[in-house]
Amino acid sequence: MIPSVLPTYNRAPLEFVKGEGAWLTTADGRRFLDLGSGIAVNALGHAHPALVEALTSQAQNLWHVSNLYHIPQQQALADKLVEHTFADTVFFTNSGTEACELAVKMARKYFYDKGQPERVEIITFDGSFHGRSSAGIAAAGSEKMTKGFGPLLPGFVHLTFGDLDGLTDAITGTTAAIMIEPVQGEGGIRPVPDAELKALRQICDEHGLLLILDEVQCGVGRTGKLFAHEWAGITPDIMMVAKGIGGGFPLGAVLATEGAASGMTAGTHGSTYGGNPLGCAVGCAVMDHVADPDFLADVNRKAGLLRQKLEGLVGNHPEVFEEVRGAGLMLGLKCKAVNSDVVSAGYENELITVPAADNVIRLLPPLTLTDEDIAEAVSRLEKTAAQVTAA
Ligand SMILES: Cc1ncc(COP(=O)(O)O)c(C=O)c1O
Repeated sequence: MIPSVLPTYNRAPLEFVKGEGAWLTTADGRRFLDLGSGIAVNALGHAHPALVEALTSQAQNLWHVSNLYHIPQQQALADKLVEHTFADTVFFTNSGTEACELAVKMARKYFYDKGQPERVEIITFDGSFHGRSSAGIAAAGSEKMTKGFGPLLPGFVHLTFGDLDGLTDAITGTTAAIMIEPVQGEGGIRPVPDAELKALRQICDEHGLLLILDEVQCGVGRTGKLFAHEWAGITPDIMMVAKGIGGGFPLGAVLATEGAASGMTAGTHGSTYGGNPLGCAVGCAVMDHVADPDFLADVNRKAGLLRQKLEGLVGNHPEVFEEVRGAGLMLGLKCKAVNSDVVSAGYENELITVPAADNVIRLLPPLTLTDEDIAEAVSRLEKTAAQVTAA
């Protein structure tokens, strides 16, 4: 008999009842160190007092009105995002997938309005992940995500990750945009080198294409900059954001330049819940912390500390781990053992990590984790690795 919850997930046998900082507690009192943050979502950790206050005080006043009316919290969050990024304008969504949908529509509408309706194709890369909607799976293109769900949304060209030569050949008169994650998350924590992001920007400029960055996983302070592309000194035309921006409340956004967004006039797009008062009140509180240079400096300091200790871990367990990769607090341990075995062994040591493709385990801790949390995390990873070796 089919379970009452549609069985699309392979869930770990764990159930949490409370969270605080980087720690999660089960009903029977076991305390887990959370290096997953609900897949890069709880940027400020669990139950951060500023987020609890923002959500509960908003909840006492007004939950929802719809986008038929002005929403001051939405305006405030858009202003903060515009102030701190390349963007001139923001549309709020409920998720990263929904942000992907709009990014695709926005790029196509841009060219349609310019009198080039044939320019609909979006170039993407293998290993990418842009969500599970029809556009999202067509954009990523992998068999794992698309099999059985055809006919797929047309207009995506899939290239090999890092293949810049192939990219120039793939650009034709029907190309509209390049869409890429500056650091692939689900694909196994694969950062795009800064030089390559710069080259992509240049190629887009030369060919009049839009550069769409998917910062759903790598954005909002995760790599030690507010957004990951800042490391490369470039800016996109369109950017997808979600996960960390809501700190645990479902919230996403599409950020864009005035030019890229020029086709999105009244009536061309919408979302009932997107940008509602609750989500945006929380998003404002997240931004107030994460956009603070001192906060980001501390993320970088802790990232350096964690990475150094992880290099030691890999050196101590060469039969379990191959390398550390990633940026900031978006780190991956490429495994020699089976990554899911390492994740499961971690559970036995009350440690949460997240598997990814390419036999990687992801470490995406709350950006607020403490130095003591880092020491504890590495000690639990050492124990976990020793168990995997022994198995
Ligand atoms: C890079 C990237 N894009 C898009 C998505 C989809 O976001 P959501 O699950 O919020 O719809 C994800 C989710 O993991 C992601 O990592």
